Amino acid sequence: MILIKLGGSIITNKEKPLSPRKKTIENIAKYLKKVNESIIIVHGGGSFGHYWSVKYDMHTKPMKYNAYGVSVVKNSMIELNKIILDAFLKNKLNPYCLPPTDFMSGNKPIIKKIKEIEKIANSGLIPITFGDALWYGQKKTYILSGDKIMTYISKILKPRLVVFALNEEGLYQDLKSKKLIRELKGENPIISKNNMDVTGGMTRKVQEATKISKMGINVFFVNGNKPERIVKAVKNRKFEGTVFRGKRNE
Ligand code: IPE
Repeated sequence: MILIKLGGSIITNKEKPLSPRKKTIENIAKYLKKVNESIIIVHGGGSFGHYWSVKYDMHTKPMKYNAYGVSVVKNSMIELNKIILDAFLKNKLNPYCLPPTDFMSGNKPIIKKIKEIEKIANSGLIPITFGDALWYGQKKTYILSGDKIMTYISKILKPRLVVFALNEEGLYQDLKSKKLIRELKGENPIISKNNMDVTGGMTRKVQEATKISKMGINVFFVNGNKPERIVKAVKNRKFEGTVFRGKRNE
């Protein structure tokens, strides 16, 4: 089983509020058709969820946020999710819409429900979930990042491979030279902060990817604008991007 995150920066134009990148989404779906393994998809918020989370000052910390804001964020994620579902359906990929409320209780994943996701994926359907505004308890809500969902699913289901499709070539040594880091083996790269995202942008992705690779799973950062690279990563062909080599802590 392959676990893939479609980052908000690849499925939406982050410069412009509420702008999906439909062509890119369809192109990714077209290439995923070439993968002969079960797939689970997680997608981000980009200029949908993040746009409204910033507007209503919502963060990953559970707090009593503005109720209207919670509704608006949630609504925008459903809207973006529908665009992804439609693109998958159009390519006969049998998407199975799976909001995170299905497998989260507060800020904890429900193990039994996550195990069910694997069964769904193995039955010819592609479960598609996403980062969202979630109920926490005691009138509090929080923003759950899709990157966190990646770690929860990885921990419980141990996918063969984890892929983060980004709007970048991979992880750079530094942003000036744009020299790509090809491979990481358990070390923690230092990256510059991005203040645009309520869930922590690239910093969060690197943190979660590092955690997942420490579970012994290979994690690939690939350019989602070139979805053939996702297929190459899956098929173990010559791959372009960054690999976090799966390594267990002794
Ligand atoms: C964010 O999910 C969800 C909301 C803001 C509601 P992610 O944190 O996974 O989104 P991206 O991939 O960084 O855009």
